[in-house]
Amino acid sequence: MNTPMEKVEVKLPGRAYWIEIGSGTLGRLGSRLRELISAKRVTLITDQNVGPLHAARLIKSLESSNFQVADITVPGGESSKSLEQARLIYDELAGLSHGRHDPMIALGGGVVGDLSGFVAATWMRGVPFVQCPTTLEADIDAGVGGKTAVNHASGKNMIGVFYQPSLVWIDVDCLCTLNDRDYRAGLAESVKHAVIFDEAFLQWHEEHVDAITAREPRIVQELVRRNCEIKAAVVVEDEKEAASKGVGRAALNFGHTVGHAIEAVSEYELRHGEAVSLGMVAALDLAVRHCHFPDRERQRIESLLSALGLPVRSARPLDASALFARMRSDKKAKHQTIRFVLPSRIGNVAWFEAPAEESVADAIDRVIGA
Ligand code: GLY
Repeated sequence: MNTPMEKVEVKLPGRAYWIEIGSGTLGRLGSRLRELISAKRVTLITDQNVGPLHAARLIKSLESSNFQVADITVPGGESSKSLEQARLIYDELAGLSHGRHDPMIALGGGVVGDLSGFVAATWMRGVPFVQCPTTLEADIDAGVGGKTAVNHASGKNMIGVFYQPSLVWIDVDCLCTLNDRDYRAGLAESVKHAVIFDEAFLQWHEEHVDAITAREPRIVQELVRRNCEIKAAVVVEDEKEAASKGVGRAALNFGHTVGHAIEAVSEYELRHGEAVSLGMVAALDLAVRHCHFPDRERQRIESLLSALGLPVRSARPLDASALFARMRSDKKAKHQTIRFVLPSRIGNVAWFEAPAEESVADAIDRVIGA
């Protein structure tokens, strides 16, 4: 495929950076990075699934631009988002004498990006960091906006810092190697962006369901670009999710209160996007009952999720009390009180605090399976 390269700027004052989206561009990162950074060495972090598919092309491109490349491969899967895995990487960086001006590149999905970003932010108090996402979920959400984290026994992403990359380099051709389940899971974040910000974008999804699910290259690149534009705008408004008025960046948590809990209770058997899809269905149930969200719009979104191959009911029963325990210890909870980001209409969300437990139980019942 040959579509022109597209660029989205994340205009953070003093730390602006570009998200550059293209097709077949992985082998061009070296020359682009050379324009930005004069270091001699670079460390690439990837995982056992992505490394064999894409690392050689990236390393060749970096070496052609006179970078000396070291690569570190972590096991695939959520269990790598741990302090223990971060410590193993620090040990390797020490062995490599990775210096404070040497860039670190994350090549992979959300797990690799979050873990590598956390290490990049903390090694020598921060080294230049490049995100090279290879999954749809990372292209349109995790890879953009500077959230880095590892998990803690008490919950997902409990330990982390905000640390913006110097560049996000998206080669949409990497999506060709994703299996159908992982690709579709990524679409949940795209529907989320549409519901919270942009009715026209929701309609665009409805009009292009077949092309989206068939991964029609032009449509996929448009989907990635539009999501990056939305995410960049939110991050610029409220980088550290600290808005004192309105919801700010926390709007991106729509579907995540129940979603994160489902993901953890399923022991990460469900993909993040699948859990978020269920979380959005539960949240919309609350929105209809408490925020005047029109029931026909709830049905519309549920139909779209189904058409995109995302779950709207869990295939396997989930334990409601375990979900409640997870939601209370989630970062979004306040003084152990569960909070939701809910829409009152498409394109407008607000915090919904301390809902009655029975009401949340009803919403959860809708998605947790028999
Ligand atoms: N994934 C939510 C955020 O970046 O804020």
